[in-house]
Amino acid sequence: MTDELRQKLSTQQEVEIGIKAPIVEALRLAYENPTYQFHIPGHTKGKAIFKDFRNLVGDKVLNVDTTDEFDNLGTLHPATGPIKEAQELAAEAFGAKKTFFLLNGSTAGNLALAMALTKKGQKILVNRNCHRSVLTGLMISGAEPVWICPNKIEDWSVWGNISADQIEEILSSNNDISMVWITNPTYEGVVSDIKSISSVCKKHGIPLIVDEAHGCLWNFNKHLPETALKLGADAVVHSLHKTGGSMSQSSMLHISKDSIIDEVAVEKALKLLHTTSPSLLLLASLDAARANLQSKKGQKLLDKAVENAKYLRKRLDSIPNLHQLKGDFGYKTDVTKVFIRIDGLSGKRLESILEIDFNIEVESASDIGVLILCNLGNKRSDFKYLADALEKIAANHYQDIYYLEKRKHMPMLEPKIIISLRDAFYAEKERIPKSEAIGRVSAEVVAECPPGISILLPGELITEEHLPYLNDYDTLEVVKA
Ligand SMILES: Cc1ncc(COP(=O)(O)O)c(C=O)c1O
Repeated sequence: MTDELRQKLSTQQEVEIGIKAPIVEALRLAYENPTYQFHIPGHTKGKAIFKDFRNLVGDKVLNVDTTDEFDNLGTLHPATGPIKEAQELAAEAFGAKKTFFLLNGSTAGNLALAMALTKKGQKILVNRNCHRSVLTGLMISGAEPVWICPNKIEDWSVWGNISADQIEEILSSNNDISMVWITNPTYEGVVSDIKSISSVCKKHGIPLIVDEAHGCLWNFNKHLPETALKLGADAVVHSLHKTGGSMSQSSMLHISKDSIIDEVAVEKALKLLHTTSPSLLLLASLDAARANLQSKKGQKLLDKAVENAKYLRKRLDSIPNLHQLKGDFGYKTDVTKVFIRIDGLSGKRLESILEIDFNIEVESASDIGVLILCNLGNKRSDFKYLADALEKIAANHYQDIYYLEKRKHMPMLEPKIIISLRDAFYAEKERIPKSEAIGRVSAEVVAECPPGISILLPGELITEEHLPYLNDYDTLEVVKA
């Protein structure tokens, strides 16, 4: 491909859709100008792949399944060519100083942040309901979490918001905490006041990291909460693949414009943690998701998703024995994440009725309720169908035995730390029957997925309170006595 032709195609693409997507374009050029391929991946544009798989996913997908360095596609580490350009466009779109594309999801971003910004023995203030990738990062670095338990929303058995006052109180009495790392929003869409939290962090002169994995759409619609990138956070991770429209596993890590963290250290950590064969397909999907969100069509889709969420919530309001989690005086919620419950039904039972009787799959279910995501790709008719189904279910007045007798709540236990996370993780361990585990120190991460929030962590005392959450475990790994 000559530079002249590349330039021409690039201009053409910009004129056609008004928005640039450099990786998408580079892949298209590679597709249209095939070479004799003597490099990885060895399936060679799908020619040597299992036929049923090829028939399932299609020739084109396999044709563009390649990695960096080849076909003028640029490299991820260091970022060069179209990949560099795409990251710069993403930074601009999300309002960041710098954006890194992530493979292995926001997990990779959290691991890199821990590796780059925290050290052995350093104290980091972390919300107890953080994703397990934050913990894994701290286990690797050896930093010690100082837990902050958010407010509990008892009726719903979920963790709620974190208040700036709570953070101020902890920081004032622990002047050795060197960073604050919190999740916002929660999986169920509860939003904390990041602006006030960031003011507290600034007052104490320490960085604020926000795991905004579930909030990547916020910068693109005024009816959604404000992104932490605009509210004083130093770094933010976004799982674009969750709600932003990119392919599974692809995420972004942003460094904010006024960030005080060492972004070079973050970049180095990402290089160490990432695969050396990044999938161009995943990278292109990040580029495409950003371009889509900026485009007129994408903005319309997002407007519609918000309108659909409001429509759904209004319909649900008129069902007497159905309840939805809504913003309260102390916290706000993201309108597109609809957490509901129906009297007499556990969330798990509701989930299975929706699935078996109505062919509806929701994001997740707890013993209390189910979580519905109002996605960019859903149509109004989907929401009508869902609301009709919920009306029918609620009219049935189920008396779910599980709901009435055995309902357990989400794990909202305050941890009893015996030894440090890292020391317990690397300690000599033994596996024992669950019945003998009370009073012993956990050596493993026990987390409910989704959303991966911890029940027990290495170094924590196992107590009777944990038992209701350990039904799926016959044995537990504990620190050797
Ligand atoms: C708050 C939070 N952070 C990070 C992650 C990890 O994201 P990913 O699946 O993109 O690795 C998740 C995943 O559920 C999450 O809920």
